[in-house]
Parts: sequence; structure tokens; C-alpha cells
Amino acid sequence: MLAVVAIAIGVTAVVAQSDPIATRKQIMKNVGAAAKTGGGMAKGEAPYDQAKALEIFATFADAGAKMPGLFPEDSKTGGDTAALPAIWQNMADFKGKFDKFAADAKAAQASVKDLDSFKSAFGGITKNCGACHETYRAKKS
Ligand code: HEC
Repeated sequence: MLAVVAIAIGVTAVVAQSDPIATRKQIMKNVGAAAKTGGGMAKGEAPYDQAKALEIFATFADAGAKMPGLFPEDSKTGGDTAALPAIWQNMADFKGKFDKFAADAKAAQASVKDLDSFKSAFGGITKNCGACHETYRAKKS
């Protein structure tokens, strides 16, 4: 059991190191998909589902924990990345924003109990997206 876990962790680490750009883009795609599901529930387009709500926040918390490790010096360009040079110029601030994103998501996992509490937590957390993209992600042309 332990050996299997160790191998699985090892493989993840290797993938992340060999292609941090693809890895971080995939993580953000998952975050985008989770945010879409959450937005639908918050707007009443889909019925509120507590299990889904917790899954969304878990996806956010996981992304917030993993993303800071996926911006090595040699990943500034290539791989169709939208990451801006500002990331490497303000690495501490950039990582701090992911820490906050993860912390907000963890707080929501503990506090969200119903649609009303979901709406307010989700509304707060999704402010993190724009606050980071504004400075650190190239706008789509
Ligand atoms: C602390 C910074 C930060 C936060 C917070 C953040 N993002 Fe991102 N996001 C990025 C960066 C940087 C990229 C560009 C990554 C790249 O192209 O290498 C990105 C890319 C994306 C992409 C494009 C992925 C692709 O390549 O197809 C989506 C979608 C996205 N983010 C959604 C979100 C959503 C939704 C949230 C909030 C729930 C969020 N992000 C929160 C920094 C952040």
C-alpha cells in the first residue's frame, strides 16, 4: 500500500517537473470547470447539491496548494502559456494569492451548509480568480 502511494506521488512529481506548463493549465481548466458548475448552482440554473459544492471547494483548495510549485524559472515561455512575466517578478505575491485562494476554499468546505451559505462563500472565492488573472495572466486575444 505505502509503496503504491510512494510510486503514485513520484510519478506525479515527475510529470509536474517535466511539463509544468501543461500541468498548471490542466489544473486551471479543472478549476474553470468547477467554477462553472458552482456558478450554475449559485444562479439557480442547477439544483443545489451539497456534495458537488464540497467537491468544487476541494478542487479549488487542491489547485491553490499545487499551483505555486508549477512556475519554475524555465517555464516562462512555451507550451502556449498565458502566464505573464510579472509572476516571476513578484513570485511571493503570486504565491500568496494562491495561498489565500486555498485558505478561502478550505474555510468554505467547513462553513457551507446550504444554498445561501454556498452563494456567499462562492461569490467571495471567485473574486480571487479575477484578482490574480488581472495581473498575472495574459488576456485572450
Ligand atoms: C493566484 C493566481 C490565480 C488564481 C487565484 C486563479 N488563477 Fe486561473 N490562471 C492563473 C494563471 C497564471 C493562468 C495561466 C497559466 C498558464 O497558461 O500557464 C491561469 C489560467 C486559467 C485558465 C485557462 C486554462 C487553460 O490554459 O486552458 C482558466 C479557465 C482559469 N485560470 C480559471 C480560473 C478560475 C475560474 C479561478 C477562480 C475560481 C482561477 N482561475 C483562479 C492564475 C490564477
